[in-house]
Amino acid sequence: MFSHCSVLLLSMFSLTPLSLALPFEQRGFWDFGIDGDGGGLMTMMMRDEEEGSAVEELPPPEFPVCPFGCHCQLKVVQCSDLGLTEVPKNIPAETKLLDLQNNRISELKENDFKGLANLYALSLVNNKISKVHPRAFIPMQHLQKLYFSRNLLTAIPKNLPPSLVELRIHENRIKKVAEGTFSSLGIMNCIEMGGNPIQNSGFEPGAFKGLKLNYLRISEAKLTGIPKDLPDNLHELHLDHNEIQAIELEDLSRYKHLYRLGLGNNRIRMIENGSLSYLPNLRELHLENNRLSRVPRGLPDLKYLQVVYLHSNNISQVNVDDFCPRRFGTKRSFYNGISLYANPVQYWEVQPAAFRCVNDRLAIHFGNYKK
Ligand SMILES: *[C@@H]1O[C@H](CO)[C@@H](O)[C@H](O)[C@H]1NC(C)=O
Ligand SMILES: *[C@@H]1O[C@H](CO)[C@@H](O)[C@H](O)[C@H]1NC(C)=O
Repeated sequence: MFSHCSVLLLSMFSLTPLSLALPFEQRGFWDFGIDGDGGGLMTMMMRDEEEGSAVEELPPPEFPVCPFGCHCQLKVVQCSDLGLTEVPKNIPAETKLLDLQNNRISELKENDFKGLANLYALSLVNNKISKVHPRAFIPMQHLQKLYFSRNLLTAIPKNLPPSLVELRIHENRIKKVAEGTFSSLGIMNCIEMGGNPIQNSGFEPGAFKGLKLNYLRISEAKLTGIPKDLPDNLHELHLDHNEIQAIELEDLSRYKHLYRLGLGNNRIRMIENGSLSYLPNLRELHLENNRLSRVPRGLPDLKYLQVVYLHSNNISQVNVDDFCPRRFGTKRSFYNGISLYANPVQYWEVQPAAFRCVNDRLAIHFGNYKK
């Protein structure tokens, strides 16, 4: 449930067990298995079918249709790297996975996906799409995964299918998320929209209205603060590599369900007292590569906090109560990792008791500070 996007994908292919705390990596599932016999994809489809309990009928024994140049096999239609300038015609109606990545498609037209009611995943990664007809996605009643990264979109397309679970729209030219963009959607697992030139003012009020979302990443954008109107049930929020300078008291008050908060590689100097107290479920906090001159206040009150990244800041002192509560027993989970290296703190001056609620001394990463 609290997996991140990429881990979810990997675990679908049974390649890697669920692992914790790895930084997000952009990875398409097309990387796996599709070049061979499509075994990984089939496993995924079969699992989905088990879940959906639909028993597939054998396809009728007629002459198979496949768009020119594409490979069609087991309901997977692969048309990548063909120099296509538009979505091909004659895509078989039973197609579940359609791979159009690495082409030169510039537009999605109203009828491009007509009849593809069974489509489960669509990859349009690395095309030149700047225009999407507002009805282009209407036929795809069962689309769960839409991979739209590396295109030329300036807005998130409207009327996304209500069945959508995962949207990757990394590295486009999105500057604005309009009110009601996600109003057709109910519950989603993941939206990855990093690498877009979006500023805080680019989120219209109500941009995420009605959406329940597990994981959101808006890294490498132009955010100067934590956006205030994101979905309120987020479990993971990653805003690394932005221009955030401060966390103010109310900034996090909406995101009470966060398990993981990623704010590394920003310019944070100030975290207002009390702002972290809105996150009682927090497990993991990333604040590395910022400009903090002290350990943020309020960490001892986060009962479940286990991992804190604070390396590469300007922290010159660690006080005895910075991490651990005074009263023994109030912390439910001890720390598994605290990184403090590349700070001007002189670690031999830190009292060992500062880490009395850490599982293992090896969990504290001090390293050497080099001027
Ligand atoms: C923040 O809280 C600490 C005590 O936890 C207090 O010493 C400090 O003055 C407070 N700072 C502000 C700006 O309120
Ligand atoms: C680091 O903190 C010290 C005070 O502890 C301050 O004088 C200095 O300007 C800070 N450096 C940066 C780069 O923020």
